Amino acid sequence: MANFLVFTSYIVLTLSLANCFINGVDAARAFFVFGDSLVDNGNNNYLATTARADSPPYGIDFPTREPTGRFSNGLNIPDLISQEIGTEPILPYLSPNLKGDKLLVGANFASAGVGILNDTGFQFIEIIRMSKQLDFFEEYKGRVSDLIGEEESEKLINGALVLITCGGNDFVNNYYLVPRSLRSRQYSLSKYVKYLISEYRKILRKLYHLGARKVLVTGTGSMGCAPAELALKSVNGECDVELERAAALYNPQLVKMVKGLNKNIGDDVFIAANALKMQDDFITNPELYGFVTSKEACCGQGPYNGIGLCTPLSNLCQNRDLYVFWDQFHPSEKANRIIVKQILTGSNEYMHPMNLSTILAMDSIGV
Ligand SMILES: *[C@@H]1O[C@H](CO)[C@@H](O)[C@H](O)[C@H]1NC(C)=O
Ligand SMILES: *[C@@H]1O[C@H](CO)[C@@H](O)[C@H](O)[C@H]1NC(C)=O
Repeated sequence: MANFLVFTSYIVLTLSLANCFINGVDAARAFFVFGDSLVDNGNNNYLATTARADSPPYGIDFPTREPTGRFSNGLNIPDLISQEIGTEPILPYLSPNLKGDKLLVGANFASAGVGILNDTGFQFIEIIRMSKQLDFFEEYKGRVSDLIGEEESEKLINGALVLITCGGNDFVNNYYLVPRSLRSRQYSLSKYVKYLISEYRKILRKLYHLGARKVLVTGTGSMGCAPAELALKSVNGECDVELERAAALYNPQLVKMVKGLNKNIGDDVFIAANALKMQDDFITNPELYGFVTSKEACCGQGPYNGIGLCTPLSNLCQNRDLYVFWDQFHPSEKANRIIVKQILTGSNEYMHPMNLSTILAMDSIGV
């Protein structure tokens, strides 16, 4: 009998590690998202900001065919990751529908326009800066504790998957926003990158402190190749050299920082996703991935469809799946799918030290 009890509690323990039992209900793993417009799924709809995607044709290929605040024609990266981990899409933290059991699925704290630095994105007026996103996460934890108790709440957070995507705006909407910007007069590019990385490290440490144990950290994509940059600077479709230099400096240092943090913690908490390489693949060879162009945005106006915002008055392509870029900065759903596939199964070049399918497999055997 005693043996039997020990045995069953062992099974219960293993199962709860794998599935995170909540109130005896077999809940799937929770998912939390932090960062900028690449992963915002509607928080900015609730803010007085100019960084928004809540009017058509945004969402034209979304299941409801309606704009939702996602900077995509359809699904974005968090939606596609939710599909992979087998949960419903998570709600924006500011959504009034995020309450009760919905809280247990996770929450998205991202806000279009933010960067690592507080001064990034000031031109968008009201945005949820990274420190505020973390404050909201703490508030969220309190709400979940009220719902299921502190211990279960901690378990839910420890067992969750976290995605954080920011940094691009610190270049595009800060350092390089205007010639001779404040930051560019203050720092050389390499010093600025160092500063960003050291500030990003603090954000990641805070996430760990708040209970995050599996965090996907994406680097910046090929910022200089976005249609917005081509429209401003390109003569023959070549990417902007300065922004390419920034991405080439920033991304390897991010990986190095992530490695150092893991070593410090003694566990592979942070997983670096090489968004630059993922994007470069289809920017250098769009046809290989079924795209007709990586230079022209589907929705926009002017050269490369890269000037101004995507609005009901913009030029709109017929088949969004043929375009790498949906608007002047953001990938199409099709491109997001390719990125998420690499996050899931990519080799070490793309995902360091492991890919998402390895994380999911490890957890299902309770390691
Ligand atoms: C950013 O703002 C928050 C909240 O005001 C503050 O706690 C944090 O120290 C600031 N970060 C930097 C780098 O100034
Ligand atoms: C990534 O995932 C695949 C399984 O889909 C696995 O075979 C591969 O070894 C993984 N790569 C790394 C670097 O973890």
